[in-house]
Amino acid sequence: MELKETGDGVDSWKEVNLIYNAALKQVETKMQILNEEFQHVHQYNPIEHIKSRMKTPESIVKKLKRHGKESTIENMIEYVNDIAGIRIICSFTSDIYRIADMLRHQRDIQVLAVKDYITYPKASGYKSYHMIVTVPVYLSDRIVDTKVEIQIRTVAMDFWASLEHKIHYKFEGDAPEHIQNELVECAKLVADLDARMLMLNEEILAIGQGQNDHG
Ligand code: GTP
Ligand code: MG
Repeated sequence: MELKETGDGVDSWKEVNLIYNAALKQVETKMQILNEEFQHVHQYNPIEHIKSRMKTPESIVKKLKRHGKESTIENMIEYVNDIAGIRIICSFTSDIYRIADMLRHQRDIQVLAVKDYITYPKASGYKSYHMIVTVPVYLSDRIVDTKVEIQIRTVAMDFWASLEHKIHYKFEGDAPEHIQNELVECAKLVADLDARMLMLNEEILAIGQGQNDHG
């Protein structure tokens, strides 16, 4: 790997890797705890599943190059926000905002940036809720606030994004127009499906509520 070491601060790739990995584990645990508590209180799991990954050194270097930055440890800490990445897949759009709010309110989480591609989808049709947060990682002699990229989306949005990513990769970002148009159409179907499934779920919940009200 061609990352250069500069000596000050977090001074080796191994250590950086360890710290980001610890941050990732913490966010993952936080999400599992929230999910279990939610199940306990509301008899319902807002989270379908969680995927997490560490960015490979190769793709960190590639990203720095893309931003015209030298491959140093300092630059990767400053400019690469998705070294540690976690994807949270929910059933319903309402769960996404619920989870984002629960995270936002945790005292040790600091939100650095939010991109709401659900309210404002990308031109490609991409929808997802992104947060860049920091969590404190406690080492033997210091605390390091470490960035984690959190992507929150529904199962349907995730299905769309996976296929779109595959197509994007295959055509190196330059897919034929009819395929791009078809993806935009599919994104509309996904949005419609998500909206209808949410309404259906709310109707069912309301019926459950009514039955409880009548004993
Ligand atoms: P990157 O440099 O690609 O990480 O993007 P960014 O720094 O502009 O941030 P953004 O929040 O837009 O995207 C972060 C991540 O979201 C990407 O690395 C992808 O995993 C995902 N993403 C963003 N846009 C798209 C898209 O159009 N399609 C798919 N499939 N994924 C996307
Ligand atoms: Mg990325």
